[in-house]
Amino acid sequence: MKLPATGVHFLLVLMVCCTHSLALLEFKKSIIRDPNELLISWNESTHLCSWDGVLCSVRHPHRVISLNLTNRDLVGQISPSLGNLTFLKVLILSASSFSGEIPRSLGQLHHLQILKLNDNMLQGGIPSLANCSKVKELSLGKNQLTGQIPADLPNSLQKLILVANNLTGTVPASLANITVLKIFTCMNNNIEGNIPDEFARLRGLQELHLGKNKLSGRFPQLVLNLSNLVVFSVASNYLSGDVPSDLGGSLPSLKYMSLGGNFFHGHIPSSIANASELNIVDMSRNKLTGVIPSSIGKLQKLFALSFEYNKLQASKEQDWKFMNSLANCTELQVRTVLGNRLQGNVPESLGNLSSQLRYLYLANNHLSGDFPSGIAKLRSLISIELGGNRFTGARLQLDNNILTGPIPSSLCNLSNLIGLYLESNQLDGHIPPSLGNLQTLEILNISNNNLLGTIPKELFGIQTLLNIELSSNNLDGPLHPDIGNAKQLTYLDISSNSLSGEIPSAIGNRERLEDIKLGHNVFSGSVPTSLGNITNLQILNLSRNHLNGSIPVSIVRLKFLEQLDLSFNRLEGEVPTAGIFSNLISVWIDGNTGLCGGQLVRHLRPCSAMHLNSRKNKHFTVQKVVIPLGSIASLAIVKKNVSLPSFGSKFPKVTYIDLARSTEGFSSSKIVVAVKVFCLERKGAQKSFMAECNALRNIRHRNLVPILTACSSDGSSSTLNHITLAQRLSIVVDIADAMEYLHHNHQGTIVHCDLKPSNILLDDNMTARVGDFGLAMFKVDSIMPSFGDSASASSIAIKGTIGYVAPECATGREVTIAGDVYSFGIVLLEIFLRKRPTDDMFKDGLNIVRFVEMNPDRILKIIDPDLLEDERDVSQGTSVSFKEKSLECLASVLKTGLCCANPSPSERMDMQGVAARLHGIKEAYLRGN
Ligand SMILES: *[C@@H]1O[C@H](CO)[C@@H](O)[C@H](O)[C@H]1NC(C)=O
Ligand SMILES: *[C@@H]1O[C@H](CO)[C@@H](O)[C@H](O)[C@H]1NC(C)=O
Ligand SMILES: *[C@@H]1O[C@H](CO)[C@@H](O)[C@H](O)[C@H]1NC(C)=O
Ligand SMILES: *[C@@H]1O[C@H](CO)[C@@H](O)[C@H](O)[C@H]1NC(C)=O
Ligand SMILES: *[C@@H]1O[C@H](CO)[C@@H](O)[C@H](O)[C@H]1NC(C)=O
Ligand SMILES: *[C@@H]1O[C@H](CO)[C@@H](O)[C@H](O)[C@H]1NC(C)=O
Repeated sequence: MKLPATGVHFLLVLMVCCTHSLALLEFKKSIIRDPNELLISWNESTHLCSWDGVLCSVRHPHRVISLNLTNRDLVGQISPSLGNLTFLKVLILSASSFSGEIPRSLGQLHHLQILKLNDNMLQGGIPSLANCSKVKELSLGKNQLTGQIPADLPNSLQKLILVANNLTGTVPASLANITVLKIFTCMNNNIEGNIPDEFARLRGLQELHLGKNKLSGRFPQLVLNLSNLVVFSVASNYLSGDVPSDLGGSLPSLKYMSLGGNFFHGHIPSSIANASELNIVDMSRNKLTGVIPSSIGKLQKLFALSFEYNKLQASKEQDWKFMNSLANCTELQVRTVLGNRLQGNVPESLGNLSSQLRYLYLANNHLSGDFPSGIAKLRSLISIELGGNRFTGARLQLDNNILTGPIPSSLCNLSNLIGLYLESNQLDGHIPPSLGNLQTLEILNISNNNLLGTIPKELFGIQTLLNIELSSNNLDGPLHPDIGNAKQLTYLDISSNSLSGEIPSAIGNRERLEDIKLGHNVFSGSVPTSLGNITNLQILNLSRNHLNGSIPVSIVRLKFLEQLDLSFNRLEGEVPTAGIFSNLISVWIDGNTGLCGGQLVRHLRPCSAMHLNSRKNKHFTVQKVVIPLGSIASLAIVKKNVSLPSFGSKFPKVTYIDLARSTEGFSSSKIVVAVKVFCLERKGAQKSFMAECNALRNIRHRNLVPILTACSSDGSSSTLNHITLAQRLSIVVDIADAMEYLHHNHQGTIVHCDLKPSNILLDDNMTARVGDFGLAMFKVDSIMPSFGDSASASSIAIKGTIGYVAPECATGREVTIAGDVYSFGIVLLEIFLRKRPTDDMFKDGLNIVRFVEMNPDRILKIIDPDLLEDERDVSQGTSVSFKEKSLECLASVLKTGLCCANPSPSERMDMQGVAARLHGIKEAYLRGN
């Protein structure tokens, strides 16, 4: 009989079976949480082949061939024992919470075909899988894996997915030996270098996703050999150079192409029209120039097209031909060319675009003429952007459209519209009441135009409306009580108009309102008590109106209120002490002569004594008191009589001696010259200098340093250390004016990027001037922090100065005016506290901003003690009320500083607001009333 043979066979099976169940039980042990109780079936009383997630071979019923536990929320580590499941073909542990490293033992699984460990929290490197010579699919994405992409991946791989890890190093050339590779994605890692030329061999490659890495160098030409490519994405890298002109012709199967967020320049190759399968084309955020090719209309399957934030032009009529041609792209749903240099009237043919078009973004161009009425024909539109600097983080040198004339009432036909952004144009006429038909509208932004007339009450009938932004127009008349019907309204900004009448009490019905900004109007009457019913209110600004009566106590109830500005009205009576009023920093009530009481630290007159003291101290004059301001040593004054060297395109070679000689040893002066010192050793110094000259060429403001030169050694600077409160106020006002001018001048926005005390210079009259635009123009040239070529990379990586740079700028790539506002806030706090943001006391999470925030009632304790001395001297023989005035002034100033240095960029005021506010504070202080 054949018994012995069967016996052997049987024993062998038993052995495999035990190994497998032991390995799985070992795996179970390393799971510390199993919320779905999945592994409950895994016990010795049932056969392992019936365990949940386990699959055995049909022919050899004791061999585990698949372990598939996807999406089970398991918490624990991956036990190395899985390496003993020798016959495993499929191992899937995706979308759980496995941590720790990927066990090396998995490399022993010779039969493995699919290995998916994606969406976990795995760390460490990728183990060698060189012996898993049958693996077709390896999916390790969305973990925290580090190290390099292994060079010895098996040649059987068809799908390699490494997206969203922390992998470093370069793309190994050896990957090109995996000739069956179809999909390679390693988006969102830290991969450097370029795609190896060897990749040209991968003729079967269909998807290549390399976005969000640190790839550099030129456009990878080898890609043109990959004629089966369907997806090609290298978005958000540091690639540069031209986009090859034959791109489209070489890649006939391409459906998705994303080159956005690099440094590509040159023209958009018209050959892309030959890649007739293209669905999605993203070439945004590069430096592309020229016109948009009119062949683009050949892309019949185009769904989304983005050219935004380039330097594309359209000035002549024929440059706009692409618009006619796009009418052939009947599937187009998204079209964005915002942030370019498209000029003049938008052709009527805009209205012939696909009736399916859902998103149309043309903001930040040079569009002029009447509102493109063709838009009203695009019935599927969800969002229209034709505005200007809507983003507080406005990028540099972005242009504004200057559309004029009225808003066509035919827009009311766009019944799917959700967002209508028309801000910062010159639209005039009335707001068409028919916009009230837009029954899905959520955001209406027509701020900063020349609109006239009243706000149509029909708008408030839009039940979906979340944001109404109509600030800075010429709107007048009353605010209709129907505002109380706008159920979803969360943001209302109608400030800086000429709106009048009473603030309707019905506004209190809108509990969802978070921000109400009605400042700079001529509202009269009292502050509605009903405001106290808006439980979600965070910001309430009623400043600079003609409101009278008392502050409603109901406001005290508002738990989430963070900023309350009632300044410059005609309010009178008692200031509450509870709720937000207990926080000195968050409440603005200056410029209301009739207010009294409130918290003691506010130093208002006690309400009962109001009449006795009023106006008594009006004619108080500020005595000059000398105070040292040592810590602001870098507020330097340099006076020189210089014959300026002429500098052409070269960095001027002026030595310290030259400079000293030409200024007669830095002696007497007629011209005040600020000297900026460039460190020539530092890479980028020359570029920085030229950037600065260019930035300054067109910029003129009394508080900006008008011209600069260079010198190769340390300049001479004398420390100023006698600065009174009044002088410090003037200084911050001057700086604010300069920054306002930079941000909001007619030449376009300039971001300074490096505002700090050492960039502020004082002249004889203590007028502050802001200088040092070196960094500013770096940012003009490159929105990204670094170019592809490593030569410039190191210098461009400088982003402001520690302590002064806004939190979001320290890490992010964006340069924003909001970042400048932050730096300004820090400088302001430094000037009044006389503490550097880098002071030793600021550590363990405490910074200068938190320090001020935490001490709202202890202003006297935190400010520069010299200011108190000043105070003491002055108050001897003079009035107590001056001291109160100083305190109130200081409180207001510090509040302004905090508003500027808010960690959240969207919460910061803009420099226009800041400057206006500081002027107000300064005037109030100098008036002394
Ligand atoms: C699995 O194999 C390892 C060697 O790789 C061995 O040390 C271990 O005992 C085995 N575990 C089980 C559960 O069989
Ligand atoms: C793994 O399991 C999931 C859900 O249980 C299933 O959708 C998927 O097809 C399985 N994969 C394999 C390769 O068996
Ligand atoms: C890994 O990447 C994450 C974000 O994906 C990041 O928060 C983390 O700091 C990175 N860790 C390392 C060590 O780079
Ligand atoms: C890739 O293949 C080439 C031959 O085509 C060979 O010379 C090279 O060693 C291989 N590289 C690796 C890492 O396998
Ligand atoms: C668009 O279609 C029209 C007619 O259907 C045709 O004449 C024109 O050449 C097409 N344009 C492009 C760019 O394909
Ligand atoms: C505020 O709400 C209370 C009830 O919560 C209500 O009695 C009162 O009338 C409301 N006030 C106004 C002015 O709407």
